[in-house]
Amino acid sequence: MTETGLEQENKNLPFWAFAWPRGQAIARYILDNPSFVKNKSVLDLASGSGIAGIAALTASARHVDFNDIDPLACKSLHLNCTANGLKVYPSILGKNLIAGPTHECSEKNSWAIIVAGDIFYELPM
Ligand SMILES: C[S@@+](CC[C@H](N)C(=O)[O-])C[C@H]1O[C@@H](n2cnc3c(N)ncnc32)[C@H](O)[C@@H]1O
Repeated sequence: MTETGLEQENKNLPFWAFAWPRGQAIARYILDNPSFVKNKSVLDLASGSGIAGIAALTASARHVDFNDIDPLACKSLHLNCTANGLKVYPSILGKNLIAGPTHECSEKNSWAIIVAGDIFYELPM
């Protein structure tokens, strides 16, 4: 399906279907410097394909929460984790954490590291 076709059907573009340059750079940095995340709790904000969070899990992060508001991105994360040999069931937060405090932010989770690749492309963000 083309971009025009997706727009006509009022569907979001599959931003999750690409490893965006900043996500790649973050993943490269983490894999080259695993101590950055080792045994730490990480949030991959606007995770898309999950490239940065998958790198964090590969580099022995204690826990990674993936967050994306696109339900298809959340689905693709399961496939991408499996394709990368990860045995963990990914923790996926589908809420908009930027919109305001949520239960996920304020009570359940706290993160030592928040990674965010290629997300500042629209004014609200
Ligand atoms: C350009 S992609 C980047 C994906 C990934 N971080 C990477 O570097 O490959 C942007 C992603 O941000 C997500 N997104 C946009 N606004 C968001 C928000 N408020 N909270 C969480 N995710 C958001 C989109 O659904 C999309 O998957």
